[in-house]
Amino acid sequence: MGREGPGTGETGLEPGQLEKKTRGKLQKQICQVVLDHFEQQYTAELGDAWSGVRDVLTSPWCWQHALLLNRFSQSPGLESILAEQGYRPAFPAALPYLPAAFRCYTRTAPGRFPAQKHRPGRLKEYYLLNAASLLPVLALEVQDGEDVLDLCAAPGGKSVAILQCACPGRFHCNEYDDLRSRWLEQTIESFIPDPLINLIRVSKLDGRQIGDLQPEFYDKVLVDAPCSNDRSWLFSADPQQAVLRLLQRKELSSLQLQLLRSAVKALRPGGSLVYSTCTLSKAENSDVIDLILNSCRNVMPVDISGMARGVSQQFSFLSGTQQHELLVLPEKGRAWGPMYVAKLKKVSST
Ligand SMILES: C[S@@+](CC[C@H](N)C(=O)[O-])C[C@H]1O[C@@H](n2cnc3c(N)ncnc32)[C@H](O)[C@@H]1O
Repeated sequence: MGREGPGTGETGLEPGQLEKKTRGKLQKQICQVVLDHFEQQYTAELGDAWSGVRDVLTSPWCWQHALLLNRFSQSPGLESILAEQGYRPAFPAALPYLPAAFRCYTRTAPGRFPAQKHRPGRLKEYYLLNAASLLPVLALEVQDGEDVLDLCAAPGGKSVAILQCACPGRFHCNEYDDLRSRWLEQTIESFIPDPLINLIRVSKLDGRQIGDLQPEFYDKVLVDAPCSNDRSWLFSADPQQAVLRLLQRKELSSLQLQLLRSAVKALRPGGSLVYSTCTLSKAENSDVIDLILNSCRNVMPVDISGMARGVSQQFSFLSGTQQHELLVLPEKGRAWGPMYVAKLKKVSST
């Protein structure tokens, strides 16, 4: 395969030197105004758990990366290379609906396996991601033949993951932002072979309108909502832009609620949706879900505590959440998340 490992391959530096260099570079980039804001909010919301989470979020050199293997482009030697480098299969067979073709590798040591470049005409063999990003996809439990909508899809990691789990009847991947929509198209082209690509529709709609445009059309909807993105906000390069984002943060909840309402409309009765974000913020997580449950009588919570128990060795969860939701808290050695996941079912048309 001619692939180099994450040691000296890409940088010419030994791992220790690389860590020092990364540590020096990234430490300077923490945006103090964001950290102060999070400190106040998350101390109140998470209590004692926040300090451990903060340590991981502010230490990029201890972040981990998972590899999701592409079942449509298998490389014969890849799994032995991963085993040599300490990677192990993630997600235990304990998850009853985990398809055999779904293979994800993680290791406890930090570091990143080299990314594959886009090569026209050749499919990529793996997707690098935060392992917690797979939990919303697993919670959705897509079955072969179901009609699926990925409402906020770019850059496309979860769309690719859905196609590792099942072969939907119709698969609609939507992304509002023009540039990111092109990124989504490129991801799909890089991972999905021709006959399957024909099942996929990529659109650039405002997700808030899809419920009215396609009412009761889908069996499953993923709402991986635009959110505060705690990891990246902490490293905002422009403090003025960071302040503006923090001021506009409240508006995100309203956008998230509107996207959820649209998703509910787009679901067939009996269909289900998964809502996810990569923020710890209660206002963008449980509060949004509570609002939809309190305002839509045809929507019921779905218990995902079995899935959470099945993966509890690999992920650290906030305790005290309700059965239809989970919040992954990053901790040292299990530096996955933040990731909030909630599952709902539409029980009737109105
Ligand atoms: C968390 S990201 C999605 C990540 C993606 N699901 C993945 O796994 O690669 C949220 C996305 O929602 C998009 N977005 C923002 N507002 C939207 C809207 N009104 N309708 C649809 N997508 C929107 C953002 O541009 C962003 O790409």
